Amino acid sequence: MVTLCFCLALTLCVTVGFSTTIQSPDGDIVDCTDILAQPAFRHPLLKDHKLQETPKNLPNLAKDRDELTWQTWHRSGSTCPEGTIPIRREVGHENGTTNSRAGAEVTQGHEYAIGYLNSTMQIYGTKVTMSVGHPKVDQVREFSLGQLWLVAGSYKKGDLNSIEAGWQVFPGLYSDFQPRFFIFWTRDAYTRYRCYNLQCAGFVQTSGTVLIEGAISLMSPQITIQIWKDPHLGHWWLSIGSANDTVLTPVGYWPTEIFTCLSDYAERVQWGGEIVNTNFSGRHTTTQMGSGYLPSSAKAAYMRDLEIVTNNRDFQPTDDLIVGTTNPAYYDIKKSSNTSFSYGGPMHAGAVHIIIDSIVFYFCISLFLLF
Ligand SMILES: *[C@@H]1O[C@H](CO)[C@@H](O)[C@H](O)[C@H]1NC(C)=O
Ligand SMILES: *[C@@H]1O[C@H](CO)[C@@H](O)[C@H](O)[C@H]1NC(C)=O
Ligand SMILES: *[C@@H]1O[C@H](CO)[C@@H](O)[C@H](O)[C@H]1NC(C)=O
Ligand SMILES: *[C@@H]1O[C@H](CO)[C@@H](O)[C@H](O)[C@H]1NC(C)=O
Ligand SMILES: *[C@@H]1O[C@H](CO)[C@@H](O)[C@H](O)[C@H]1NC(C)=O
Repeated sequence: MVTLCFCLALTLCVTVGFSTTIQSPDGDIVDCTDILAQPAFRHPLLKDHKLQETPKNLPNLAKDRDELTWQTWHRSGSTCPEGTIPIRREVGHENGTTNSRAGAEVTQGHEYAIGYLNSTMQIYGTKVTMSVGHPKVDQVREFSLGQLWLVAGSYKKGDLNSIEAGWQVFPGLYSDFQPRFFIFWTRDAYTRYRCYNLQCAGFVQTSGTVLIEGAISLMSPQITIQIWKDPHLGHWWLSIGSANDTVLTPVGYWPTEIFTCLSDYAERVQWGGEIVNTNFSGRHTTTQMGSGYLPSSAKAAYMRDLEIVTNNRDFQPTDDLIVGTTNPAYYDIKKSSNTSFSYGGPMHAGAVHIIIDSIVFYFCISLFLLF
């Protein structure tokens, strides 16, 4: 039987043409794919693009090919062989919402609790350490995430460019409820060019150890994400680390060619949580944001050590952070310092307590009056 399975697996590998296939403990199948055969190189604007090496001056660069442990698939000791990158085999796209939708529809039902800057400036990168949540997501077509945004252009002109990265629970896209490391980009306000992970051409992955779309291990309560625009060639480099790593592993880059407005710099940067409530004309669904706790709780989700890169090209702490939430009746956000905040919800879990408390209160008062 074992031999049969082995033969079948081998046949599959040969037939499909992958050099190595790795089975993750959570059921994901990971194909180590030739780095030059990755989706990015099918992008018409990247026809003449040459695969870039990691810039030597990339900040917080991990020196060696570290043994990573923060993703579930690492438990099988997994890294892909030199010259290949791990790509998660597609499973759940047919139930997903990745197919393009009309611009107006895209943000309907989306709710945010985010931190941003009170001033406008030219931004060339950001770094943040964020807790990884395991929020409940009520409906398959809803998601809950914690992420950063680097944005230029506008919705109004239809040229909004955005680079996004973080963790996301999205059953309609990944067919389960684990928080997964994800990336996203758009160059036309989420209409035609909107792309999750490596599911379409754009992002160039260089790492053989980080699995985009891979689940984040329960043992990794937080991740650090850095995005830095290479001042020389203009590509936006993504690095990631777990827990309290002081050095970060480069994952790859968004080539400057694929953008319009973001080819120069980002005009805005944001960090925080987002959920989708599909029942936007009825009763709000029970989807949680962050960890499902309000900022008043010690268990609330957080973003900390916020840094940005401005003209001088160095990372520096934010000093004019402001926070806001689009549906304060459900999800809250609280600034804890110039460089950190906590966020999440929903409120109604708390509201239930308040109602019970006041019932008890009135009950006691009535008792008091009776006697
Ligand atoms: C934002 O900046 C303006 C102008 O500099 C200032 O008046 C305002 O108080 C700031 N808002 C916050 C919330 O810090
Ligand atoms: C996606 O669709 C398949 C087949 O229709 C189904 O078996 C699976 O449960 C669905 N996944 C989710 C997360 O609903
Ligand atoms: C990371 O640092 C924070 C604050 O310094 C500390 O509370 C936490 O225990 C550290 N986590 C790990 C996994 O070392
Ligand atoms: C949507 O809202 C309606 C009306 O408020 C409610 O009856 C229904 O149960 C809600 N659906 C979900 C999935 O929450
Ligand atoms: C926070 O930033 C303001 C400037 O916006 C500065 O005056 C203040 O000292 C900073 N607070 C801390 C704790 O660094």
